[in-house]
Amino acid sequence: KKANICVDREFIVGDVDQRIYGSFIEHLGRAVYEGIYQPGNPLADERGLRQDVAKLIREIGVPIVRYPGGNFVSGYHWEDGVGPKAERPQKLDLAWSVVETNQFGLNEFMDWTKEVGTEAMMAVNLGTRGVEDAKNIIEYCNIKEGSYYSDLRVQHGYKDPHNIKLWCLGNEMDGPWQMGHKTAKEYGRLAAETGRIMRMVDSNIELVACGSSSLYMDTFAQWEETVLDEAYDQVDYISLHQYYGNHDNDTKNFLASSVAMDEFIRSVVSICDYVKVKKRSHKQINLSFDEWNVWYHSNEQDKQLEKWVKVPHQLEDIYNFEDALLVGSMLITLLKYCDRVKIACLAQLVNVIAPIMTSDSGAWKQTIFYPYMHTSVFGRGKVLHTLVKSPIYESKHGDAPYLDAVLIENEEEETLTLFAVNKSLDEPMEVKCELRQFKEYSVVEHQVLYHEDLKAENTQAHPNNVVPYGNGNGKLENGVLETVLSKTSWNVIRMK
Ligand code: AHR
Repeated sequence: KKANICVDREFIVGDVDQRIYGSFIEHLGRAVYEGIYQPGNPLADERGLRQDVAKLIREIGVPIVRYPGGNFVSGYHWEDGVGPKAERPQKLDLAWSVVETNQFGLNEFMDWTKEVGTEAMMAVNLGTRGVEDAKNIIEYCNIKEGSYYSDLRVQHGYKDPHNIKLWCLGNEMDGPWQMGHKTAKEYGRLAAETGRIMRMVDSNIELVACGSSSLYMDTFAQWEETVLDEAYDQVDYISLHQYYGNHDNDTKNFLASSVAMDEFIRSVVSICDYVKVKKRSHKQINLSFDEWNVWYHSNEQDKQLEKWVKVPHQLEDIYNFEDALLVGSMLITLLKYCDRVKIACLAQLVNVIAPIMTSDSGAWKQTIFYPYMHTSVFGRGKVLHTLVKSPIYESKHGDAPYLDAVLIENEEEETLTLFAVNKSLDEPMEVKCELRQFKEYSVVEHQVLYHEDLKAENTQAHPNNVVPYGNGNGKLENGVLETVLSKTSWNVIRMK
């Protein structure tokens, strides 16, 4: 197969907002306990923070982490997780039918963000709670001192305010499974009032309203329109969530899922802009794709879980090579819309549908770690409009190109990086890209993630089964990049 890529240095989509490489830690399964926090484990520091996990997170360079949920936040009392640990209550978490010990909470999370070099994206409970509690938590986090909740934080040993800038107004409030599920009108009003009051406490914050939990919700589109009708002036972003799975072992269709993600993004942008026009507003609402990933491997196993236990192995998807290819295509899709998608969170970060897994004796990288790490490390700069002329195939999501690609210029470092996935199951892809404006550049490295077995996995015993190699054949001479991408491969071609 053959494909052509066209770009021009002046045709820029936009600057990549680094928060597009965000992730997510929820109180769920072994994400917090046994994931990032395991007091007494030899791999943890004196605060209980797992250092082996922290090292892998730093390797990715995760700029922002959403916390504490997810579905969990819709029943959460943040006060249960602050103050002396011996006094913290054990509570039922109805979202995941487990017992939450509250030994890790807001302040421990903020310590951990500093340890791994990230920032917090904090969610408030708009399921079983509302305006009052959102007002209190932001006072606790962002006011210096001299009021009940700010003084309480100081008393808890945190003299300086946490100054959390980015806040989610609830989670998936359109979902009937959500505690305190609401109609769009009910939620829109509540989001608007909560946002208004939170900004009275701290006018510097940014707010994310809940969009639909998936493109396939019956209420999709109407939900976004109604929520924005109610809360347009109070919020900055609307969220999108989407997970894909290969339930039918149909890899061609599975790899085409990024086409649906692309459509989801374009649709939400249209709705935001429609409401903008309707309101005669000058303000633009941007997108926070704050849950995305592959999620399906653990579905059956999770149905067998016993209720009301602590720290079960929950949502522990073991990812294979084809999952990494789709994650790569999804990252390319997010980058293509970097003018509107300002925040995105790979859901999640450790043990729970995650790029990083742990046991008591170590941490290892799942297959999806690699495209995530590559884009986060090398995908900073300006996205150029990347016109991909590729053969296509019919899929259940519509026409899918065999080649997904995006090119990023980093002016400061004077580099160009091409991320590309060849989705063909049986043929290599000859790729040509005219880069006349980069005549003096040449290929520095061409990393390839490939495995002959689409179902190959990394495990603690075999952590290097699926790893990238710098063995690609990309060549840039006289301003023409040429390469042959192997079938089913994720590629990073770095030029300087
Ligand atoms: O990420 C797992 C769950 O998926 C989250 O808790 C919820 O928001 C979504 O349905």
